[in-house]
Amino acid sequence: MCGIVAYVGKKQVYPILMKGLHRLEYRGYDSAGICIYNRNRLNIYKRRGKVADLEEFVSDKDVSGTIGIAHTRWATHGEPNQCNAHPHFSQFADLALIHNGIIENYQTLKKELIKQGRTFYSETDTEVLVQLIDYIRMKSEVSLIDAVHQALSQVVGAYAVAIMSKESPRTLIVARKGSPLVIGIGKDEFLAASDATPIVEYTKDVVYLDEEEIAVLSISPKGKPKMEITNLKNVKKVPLIRKLEMNLSALEKGGYPHFMLKEIYEQPKTIRDSLSGRINIERNTVALSGVIDNKEKFLKARRIIIVGCGTSWHAGLVGEYAIEELARIPVEVEYASEFRYRDPLIYPDDVVIAISQSGETADTLAAVKIAKQRGAFVYGICNVVGSSIARATDSGSYMHAGPEIGVASTKAFTAQVGVLVLLALALAKEKKIINGSRMEQIIKAMYELPGKIEQSLKQNGAIADFAKIFTYSRNFLYLGRGYSYPLALEGALKLKEISYIHAEGYPAAEMKHGPIALIDAEMPVVVIAAQKENYEKILSNIQEVKARQGRIISIVSEGDTEVKALSDFSVEIPQTEAMLMPILACIPLQLLAYHIAVQKGCNVDQPRNLAKSVTVE
Ligand code: G6P
Repeated sequence: MCGIVAYVGKKQVYPILMKGLHRLEYRGYDSAGICIYNRNRLNIYKRRGKVADLEEFVSDKDVSGTIGIAHTRWATHGEPNQCNAHPHFSQFADLALIHNGIIENYQTLKKELIKQGRTFYSETDTEVLVQLIDYIRMKSEVSLIDAVHQALSQVVGAYAVAIMSKESPRTLIVARKGSPLVIGIGKDEFLAASDATPIVEYTKDVVYLDEEEIAVLSISPKGKPKMEITNLKNVKKVPLIRKLEMNLSALEKGGYPHFMLKEIYEQPKTIRDSLSGRINIERNTVALSGVIDNKEKFLKARRIIIVGCGTSWHAGLVGEYAIEELARIPVEVEYASEFRYRDPLIYPDDVVIAISQSGETADTLAAVKIAKQRGAFVYGICNVVGSSIARATDSGSYMHAGPEIGVASTKAFTAQVGVLVLLALALAKEKKIINGSRMEQIIKAMYELPGKIEQSLKQNGAIADFAKIFTYSRNFLYLGRGYSYPLALEGALKLKEISYIHAEGYPAAEMKHGPIALIDAEMPVVVIAAQKENYEKILSNIQEVKARQGRIISIVSEGDTEVKALSDFSVEIPQTEAMLMPILACIPLQLLAYHIAVQKGCNVDQPRNLAKSVTVE
């Protein structure tokens, strides 16, 4: 994980770096650091804790300067302390480097460098890289860029790095492999960062560095900017400049106390955006360009394998049910981390769908690469435009949910489900196995979603009230059947992520094979009972919980009486198609987790030990 930001230009660099770090803090927040060139030297300041702690620490330091690099860390090698925080210096403080990723062969490299007389101060793999670059530069008397090339050729693993040197105080070197890096081209200035959020207010012109590419970004003494990109094989590349579509207001809290609450409330809009232009109620059609352009691949697909992690994996389960129901293609859903290492059987007539909000999750990206190597057609469903997974896949559909900053995923989940149902519908249409009236019902239900999400959000006050009662609960069980089962997993994940309460999601019928042993008066059980299918069955499951004094919180459809009568607390959501119900039922689950976490005084947007973008395996 970790976030990196770098700047070279005419402006004072400190506020640019700090604002950038705040925007990237979702990527890691256990320590932070900056390096700024002034007084003829590289000045590094770093701190354990959040970016705000670093800001306080440097408040009395001289941070003037027009070139610098900054880092917010999610520790992998070495505990999160000041010493392990980035940037790291080379032996004689000639070079400073920040890094996102993991250098897998760092131990071997480190041993060799120690033999050559190098001293290490931290436990990090990053310090090994900066020392290696410096060692090559001094031993072989080559330029810094040549040393960077040689060092990166020896490295096994993933990296996005930014390097500055005392000798060339108008030049930044950035490079990437496996971890993301975007370069912003401003007026006589360059920015580089892990994503575009630190860049967007200075320029909309960006270049996404490709795998194993190195960019030298420099400003001449007369202020002229120059960018040179080469790859590890020393082949020059003409940069492809793209326009950012990001909107600055999407990166602010906009009056909400937390990004998570803002993002929950954005869902009527994000669902509208993700469906917009893709369904047409007058013509009763669905058009997903990725499916239309690759119709043959989908039509001959013997099987679809969905891969993802965390919340994206849960959305994949909803996708499995919807694709099998509508398009009648067998679907398997796998954790990307399992798929990549278990030597899976993949055939050329398989379609692999990779789901990822960030588009950077290391395991999902690796799964994409394996599927491609083995000849499958790979389709991406990502939120972040231009992200690694979006670029590595053969085709795909963006979610159009806008930047998601709260670490617990909310609006991305509902957008993922929306796109997956669209995909199921588009496949059913291409296969000509759906009739016009069924198509009309689903499209109409999709059109009604934004309004129905608004209606579900009106339950916020009531949920906040009863959430107080559960602040001290130590365990929660979430139950659902059919389309509600993935939702039970997602509801439990939301609660444990942000409130640190242990929660498990189960298919309701599985309860009697184990979890029922846990039920007593102390155990709140959240039951998602908003669908008509298997209503009687879920009712019996509720009876089983009640018989053991468990307390029931239920999510029901408008007009429900029976489940409500058995529940201690109920939240009503509007009726909809079963496959779209997860989009509505998810709202009260998100709000319940949010309010319990707020009541407990937890840091909702930056829960402990988590990071939003998991670019390490
Ligand atoms: C992390 C985040 C989760 C997310 C998962 C997959 O664990 O905290 O919220 O669901 O990564 O991320 P992706 O970006 O691939 O959807």
